Amino acid sequence: MTALKGKKIILGITGSIAAYKSAFLTRLLIKAGAEVQILMTPAATRFISPLTLSTLSKKAVFTEVSAEDSWNNHVDMGLWADIMLVAPTTATTLAKMSQAICDNIITATYLSARCPVFFAPAMDLDMWQHPATQDNVQRLQSFGNHLIPVGNGELASGLVGDGRMAEPEDIVRLLSDFLQKEQSLSGKTFLITAGPTYEHLDPVRFIGNHSSGKMGMAIAEELANRGAQVKLVLGPSKLSTNHSLIETIRVQSAQEMYEASKKEFDHCDGGVLAAAVADYRPKTVSDKKIKKSGNSLTLELEKTIDIAASLGKVKRKDQLLVGFALETNNEKANAEGKLKKKNFDFIVLNSLNDKGAGFNHDTNKISIIRKDNKIKDFKLKTKKAVAIDIVDEITEFLG
Ligand code: PMT
Repeated sequence: MTALKGKKIILGITGSIAAYKSAFLTRLLIKAGAEVQILMTPAATRFISPLTLSTLSKKAVFTEVSAEDSWNNHVDMGLWADIMLVAPTTATTLAKMSQAICDNIITATYLSARCPVFFAPAMDLDMWQHPATQDNVQRLQSFGNHLIPVGNGELASGLVGDGRMAEPEDIVRLLSDFLQKEQSLSGKTFLITAGPTYEHLDPVRFIGNHSSGKMGMAIAEELANRGAQVKLVLGPSKLSTNHSLIETIRVQSAQEMYEASKKEFDHCDGGVLAAAVADYRPKTVSDKKIKKSGNSLTLELEKTIDIAASLGKVKRKDQLLVGFALETNNEKANAEGKLKKKNFDFIVLNSLNDKGAGFNHDTNKISIIRKDNKIKDFKLKTKKAVAIDIVDEITEFLG
C-alpha cells in the first residue's frame, strides 16, 4: 500500500447504512499513510457520527459548504486532493453527480475536483438494477470517473443480490493499484481507431457495419487513465468521452479514417486499431437518391485503403502497432496471417462464435497473439476489463 503514502484523499460519505464501513475505510487509508479529508452529507451524519470520523482521520469533518461563521472552500479542496473517493455513494448522489446538481459539500467538491474520482455505490438490488441508476453509472464513467463495483450478498432490506458497497480492504487495494499504474504511460501518445466506417452510396444510404466503438473507447480511456495522451479517431458512433487526455477526431469513411490516422501516427508511440473498417466502398457515389427501378441493382465496389497495412509499412522501431481481428472461422490462423501481413506487434483476436464477444456487446472474449507466436487466451469479460488486459500487454511490450 506504499502508493498511498503522503497522498491527499477526499472521502465523501453519503447517507447509506454502508456509511458504517467508512470508519474502517478511514482507518485503513490513514494506516497506509494517506492524508484524509472527510466530507459528509447531512444524511450520512445520521448513520455515523462526524466525531468518530474526525477522530480517526485526525481532521475536522465538513458537512456543509457554509457553516454559521465560515465557508468550507470546496474549490480549494477539489484542487488539493490527489484522489476523491465517494463511499458509499447513494442512488441520489449518483444522480446528482451525473447531472451536476451541486447542492451539498460533496457534489460541490466533486464538480471542482481535477483529480481522479472514484465512486463506490451502495443501495438495494432493485435500486441498483434500475435503468435510471445504471444510466447514471455509465454517464459518470463516461466522464472518466472510476466505478468501484458493488458486491453481492445480503442487503440491509434482507434481500440478497448486487448492491453492497465494496469492502474497505478492497477499496484501499484498488486505490493503491490505481496510483501505482496511474502515471505508468505518462509522456506517451497513442493513436486509437474505433467504431465503424460508413461508405456512402447516395445522400441517404451507406455501407456500414455493427461496430459501436465500445471496445476502442474502453482502450482509449484505459490508456488515458494511465497518463497517456490519446488521439481517438472515431467512426460514426453514439459514444463520446470527456476524459481530459483524449482528443476525439470524428470521421465517417475509411478514407477519412486513414487520413486522420496517418497524420497522427507519426508523432505517436503506438497505435491500437480497433475500428471495423470497410474493405470496399461504392465505386461511384450518386449525389441524388438512387431511384427504385428494375428487379435488381448491381453495385460496383472498389477497395478502400488498408489503414493498418499502411501504418505497418511506415512503423518505426520505437513505435508499437496493435491490430484486431474479428473472425468467424479459422480464427487463430487468420489472425496470425493478419499479424504478419500488417506488421503488428501483437493482434487481438475476437470471434463471432463466442457468445458475448465482438460487436456492440458490453463484453468481449479475446486472445492476444504476439509476433513471437505466444498466445494468451482470456475469459469473457467486460470491455473495460478487456481494455485493462490489452493495455497491460502494451505496457509490458514498452518495457
Ligand atoms: O466497436 P464494438 O461494437 O465494441 O466492437 C468491437 C470490434 C468487434 C469492432 C473490435 O473488437 C474488432 O474486432 N475490431 C476489428 C474489426 C475488423 O474489422 O477486423 P478485420 O479482421 O477486418 O481487420 C484487421 C485489422 O485491420 C483491424 O485492426 C482493422 O482495424 C484493420 N483494418 C482493416 C481494414 C482496413 N481497410 N483498414 C484497417 O485498418
